[in-house]
Amino acid sequence: MPEFRRISTGVKGLDEMVSGGFPFPSVALVAGGAGTGKTTFSMSFLTEGARNGEQGLFFTTLSEPTQWMLRYSSQFDFIDKDYFGNEIKYQDIGLILQKQSQEELLDFIDDKIAEVMPQRVVIDPITVVGNFFEEDYRTFLFELVNLLKNWQAVSLLTGEVSPEESYPAEITYAVDSVILLSMIEEEGSRRKYLEVLKMRGTDHTTGRQPISITSSEGIVVLKSRF
Ligand SMILES: Nc1ncnc2c1ncn2[C@@H]1O[C@H](COP(=O)(O)OP(=O)(O)OP(=O)(O)O)[C@@H](O)[C@H]1O
Ligand SMILES: [Mg+2]
Repeated sequence: MPEFRRISTGVKGLDEMVSGGFPFPSVALVAGGAGTGKTTFSMSFLTEGARNGEQGLFFTTLSEPTQWMLRYSSQFDFIDKDYFGNEIKYQDIGLILQKQSQEELLDFIDDKIAEVMPQRVVIDPITVVGNFFEEDYRTFLFELVNLLKNWQAVSLLTGEVSPEESYPAEITYAVDSVILLSMIEEEGSRRKYLEVLKMRGTDHTTGRQPISITSSEGIVVLKSRF
């Protein structure tokens, strides 16, 4: 099998689990419940690119102003605030999602990518779209992933998972890679885990791996089990 070009995930310990990083270009899903580390993962991914002189583009679907992102980031020492507005561009698409059609949203995302020309794109969280485009959610996801695949970039979508489902099935089938984040109550404490569910063309570690989240490093895959 021909080797893909790969780019580092930016998450300490994860590249070693996935034959060096995300295939470039590709579309990935990072899915998990509330507070499992999806946004932190996204920031590690973009910060890694920024450090290497790559351009990043972060779309939020939550109508959060840039101030929110700066405040969020200030809890993590590993994120350099100087990247914002420079190596990492921030774009709120919450209002477009509420007021405009699917086609307009897709066009907006495409135009923004054409303007910024990023190597790394994040849409956090993509699952919010399902609340607005209920009936056409699958079609929208299919068109979005196709649009993203046309760019020379790795795109990372984050997906919220409710406690009763293990992963967002409707997105999983469309993307190249799926990484699951989870939190499990064990012996009275909450432990966090990361699992690579799939990565196209990649020999990867399977099973849940314990992670820690720290201010200085973000998400770190602990080495105890591989
Ligand atoms: N400074 C910090 N040091 C250590 N851990 C932190 C710190 N800040 C946040 N965390 C941990 O990171 C988790 C939050 O991660 P994050 O915001 O990336 O989750 P998320 O999956 O995006 O959540 P949401 O569903 O709310 O969007 C918290 O639950 C907390 O455990
Ligand atoms: Mg989040």
